[in-house]
Amino acid sequence: MGLEFLPGKLRREQQVTLLRALRDVMDEAPLFTPTMPRSGKPMSVRMTNCGPLGWVTDKERGYRYQATHPITGRPWPAMPQMLLHLWDEVTRYRAPPEACLVNYYDDDAKMGLHQDKDEEDFDAPVLSVSLGDTAIFRAGGRSRRDPTRRFELESGDVVVLGGEDRLALHGIDRVLAGTSDLLPEGGRINLTLRRVTKPG
Ligand code: SIN
Ligand code: FE2
Repeated sequence: MGLEFLPGKLRREQQVTLLRALRDVMDEAPLFTPTMPRSGKPMSVRMTNCGPLGWVTDKERGYRYQATHPITGRPWPAMPQMLLHLWDEVTRYRAPPEACLVNYYDDDAKMGLHQDKDEEDFDAPVLSVSLGDTAIFRAGGRSRRDPTRRFELESGDVVVLGGEDRLALHGIDRVLAGTSDLLPEGGRINLTLRRVTKPG
């Protein structure tokens, strides 16, 4: 099993329920602007997390997982139940996800091609959920020389990177402003659920 694209996986009503839960997450753990290791250059997305671990990055300490919000110092809020169920249903992995990264893209935000490789466990897939405006998602192989495919990710779409594509390069070329009315403020939310440690 490699890259799986599940368009329309979440119905509108489920998207609304999930968004409501994410509003609570973002109230408790506000979005922050991550910065790149060494250069300290700000990323164009803003992010937060829920679940026992969260992915963060800054100039001084680089990419990592930690149990607390970098600004408030508080533990990340719990992962909404709906996401735990979705993970079980879609991945059939033997252990629950430990981190849910919440990325908010405004109209100008994008994300360069990268691999998700800060986890100890690459047996578990990465599960991504899109909400709000449509994004142009690009995914290739493990090498920058490999060809890439382009997907339009709409609100409610799910992508799974597992098996041979667990370490595939992927990124967001751009967000198509005004393509969804789910978020009144516009823009796009992407969730990436990951297992970080190997299940005991
Ligand atoms: C990511 O790779 O962290 C985000 C992918 C996406 O926004 O769809
Ligand atoms: Fe990623």
